[in-house]
Amino acid sequence: MVISLLIKAILDPKGRMLETRASRNGQKLLFVKNFLQHPNMLGSVIPSSRFLINRLLGQVDWDRARTIVEYGPGVGTFTSHILDRMPPDARLVVVEKNEDFVRYLKSAFVDSRLYVVHGSAEDVQEELSKLKMDGADYIISGVPYTPMSKSLRARITQEACAALNPGGTVLFYQFTRTALPYLRSCFTQVNRGFEPRNIPPAYLFYCSQT
Ligand SMILES: C[S@@+](CC[C@H](N)C(=O)[O-])C[C@H]1O[C@@H](n2cnc3c(N)ncnc32)[C@H](O)[C@@H]1O
Repeated sequence: MVISLLIKAILDPKGRMLETRASRNGQKLLFVKNFLQHPNMLGSVIPSSRFLINRLLGQVDWDRARTIVEYGPGVGTFTSHILDRMPPDARLVVVEKNEDFVRYLKSAFVDSRLYVVHGSAEDVQEELSKLKMDGADYIISGVPYTPMSKSLRARITQEACAALNPGGTVLFYQFTRTALPYLRSCFTQVNRGFEPRNIPPAYLFYCSQT
């Protein structure tokens, strides 16, 4: 009885952990600590701003989003907003390379639509097939291209392209334009946006095949 009351106090009606100021501060600390250890893998010292999240997720047609893949969720800054907006029968696969973040995400999010994968964006097709999923309607990626080798940039782009379902879209947010030629070499349509109210300001690339 006491345990079930406690669980109700920390989970919202959909079973997700309630965000308190303390938990938000804890997320930020975990992010900063990991930035200091792996600055290249993170690319930014703090999680994405709500301006960037709203601008990027504003591109998603939620009625046709059945399988969504997020690369590099970090402490779940985008993840919680995607879960809030996506339909009850949709699935979200988050692929994260950093083990600390994977551990955090698995404990912080209780949602049967969410699949947390410890892996790399370059293996997305293999990860989806392990989950018996065919492809993605949307891929949302904040994995920073600038510090990567050229071959890794090319592999991640080609994999994202190959993992998309027909009519699907990849939404990238980046802190430089390094990714652009790689995206243009794989996708027939690359539309661009920019969000200055983020640290650092972010370039957005919306990629699809016409
Ligand atoms: C700029 S941070 C974005 C974090 C979070 N999505 C946000 O918006 O605040 C980049 C994230 O990508 C992850 N990452 C870097 N390379 C990756 C890769 N090859 N595959 C999956 N995740 C990767 C990092 O560990 C980090 O969590």
